[in-house]
Amino acid sequence: MKDDLKKRLKMNVSAIKEGTVIDHIPVKNLFKVISILRLDKIENQITFGTNLDSGKLGKKAIIKLSDKFFEDDEINKIALIAPHVKLNIIKDYEVLEKRIVEIPDVIVGIVKCFNPRCITNHETISTHFKVISKEPLELKCKYCEKITSEEQIKMI
Ligand code: CTP
Ligand code: ZN
Repeated sequence: MKDDLKKRLKMNVSAIKEGTVIDHIPVKNLFKVISILRLDKIENQITFGTNLDSGKLGKKAIIKLSDKFFEDDEINKIALIAPHVKLNIIKDYEVLEKRIVEIPDVIVGIVKCFNPRCITNHETISTHFKVISKEPLELKCKYCEKITSEEQIKMI
């Protein structure tokens, strides 16, 4: 059997013609990814799969967005909760480009400080964290020095 055909038959979610495939999303964070990227608000065609087999993660989730292409700073927001994501840019059914998302060493904005008493929760001032651990994710607030951990993360 042709390799192309084999690949197609193995595909869990239909191929798309143009757009972005966000692959290797940790299953537990699929809905967080949807919410961070505000996919509930867009009108593009979206298909997703979850609890799919994946060598690396055991199980993975995948999101396919037709006719949608992300800016780096938009997509990098998900690196916080989906660090091993592979972004596939699809043009005319072909994977034109593969991108990875990277967790920056410093995160400005995007995430709320977990500490209710932190100044960033009371004044209009951007949050600012130093990433002290990437797995599991731990962010140290520059202002109150409290640690916000992965489970506590709330996006702004
Ligand atoms: N894909 C798609 N539509 C296309 C082409 C690819 O939905 N027209 C999806 C595939 O289903 C896959 C991802 O995009 O989930 C990447 O495609 P490809 O690079 O062909 O797959 P792999 O080699 O398995 O990718 P990797 O090993 O980088 O995860
Ligand atoms: Zn703080």
